[in-house]
Amino acid sequence: MNILITGGAGFIGSHVVRKFVNKHKDYNIYNLDALTYAGNLENLKDIDDKPNYNFIKGDIVDANFINKIFTKYKFDGVVHLAAESHVDRSITDPLAFVRTNIIGTVNLLNAARDLWKDSYGQKRFYHVSTDEVYGSLGDEGLFLETTAYDPNSPYSASKASSDHFVRAYGETYGLPYVISNCSNNYGPNHFPEKLIPLFINNIIENKPLPVYGDGKYTRDWLYVIDHAIAIDLVYHKGENHETYNIGGFNEWQNIDLVKLLCRQMDLKLGRTKGTSEKLITYVKDRPGHDLRYAIDASKINKEFGWRPSVTFEEGLERTIDWFLSNEEWLNNVTTGGYQEYYQKMYS
Ligand code: NAD
Ligand code: TYD
Repeated sequence: MNILITGGAGFIGSHVVRKFVNKHKDYNIYNLDALTYAGNLENLKDIDDKPNYNFIKGDIVDANFINKIFTKYKFDGVVHLAAESHVDRSITDPLAFVRTNIIGTVNLLNAARDLWKDSYGQKRFYHVSTDEVYGSLGDEGLFLETTAYDPNSPYSASKASSDHFVRAYGETYGLPYVISNCSNNYGPNHFPEKLIPLFINNIIENKPLPVYGDGKYTRDWLYVIDHAIAIDLVYHKGENHETYNIGGFNEWQNIDLVKLLCRQMDLKLGRTKGTSEKLITYVKDRPGHDLRYAIDASKINKEFGWRPSVTFEEGLERTIDWFLSNEEWLNNVTTGGYQEYYQKMYS
């Protein structure tokens, strides 16, 4: 089996590549990644010499290139994670999200359809998506697989569009696909533009912790390795043309999460209790900020017995430990272009 994993040098993709390479030794894994600011081969240095691992540098927006690699490697399956993934960046540059998340996805769908159309058999196109396509919840309720799409940010609109294209290729061309929509991930290798790794980095550097609005926004957090386990299950056991919601059963208001993080960081850094909390700074809200996301993950739980394997407190502690013992990784990604982004975003 030749499996293409796109975006494998990124945060979630690197954990998925590692899982597939280590667990499925009879598969050849091809990691295709453009190595944007978010892609980092350091994330895979423990597996890059494995005989069943291959890296291809390339852009999913380049249709000719995508067709060439599909013809050359004759992929039996695709796990598609490559994307522009940060909501704040989508507000400043929506077209980058249209290009990668929509056009890039359609390029992959075209190549898969053309290569597979005479023998769909065991082939599978797995599209990895987000719960943000469902829009915002009020104080009550959970996102189900049947919840209507209602995206509010350019990021979630581009992911919603790509989900629709995947479904349309299933209906129109019979392409065998599965989709999963997951809640917020956290863990090792998380790029420090997202809430948890950004705040870990700022606490280490004694910089302000910019909480948007009143901090009462709610997210459902899942440890990234549990997401990778779920992706492996859905890839192998999911029904064709089905969607699976993946979540942490773990809702936190941002401000409560940030206070927990501050307490854990004070302990790890040997700082006096309350030191990091003093860095909390309320800043201007994100435009179109979704109030609450929360997933009903009972379908994947009932069908495959999947549940998160760690509590949030454990997962957060493991994450902090990883960042504190990978200072060089953090230094490498927070120099250069990152500084420019940070100045523009938070000055
Ligand atoms: P990330 O930004 O950390 O990684 C994205 C990867 O895609 C990077 O390695 C980047 O180099 C690569 N990439 C970007 N544009 C590309 C292009 N044009 N061609 C080839 N490669 C390209 O993202 P992530 O957080 O790991 O998210 C991975 C996927 O999971 C995305 O599709 C995202 O929508 C989805 N998702 C993320 C979360 C989350 O909490 N991070 C939650 C649910 C779903
Ligand atoms: P983020 O990690 O960007 O994920 P998403 O927007 O995809 O949910 O943000 C998580 C929550 O944290 C979200 O409600 C926005 C908030 N947030 C801040 O308050 N300050 C920040 O600097 C960032 C990056 C996010």
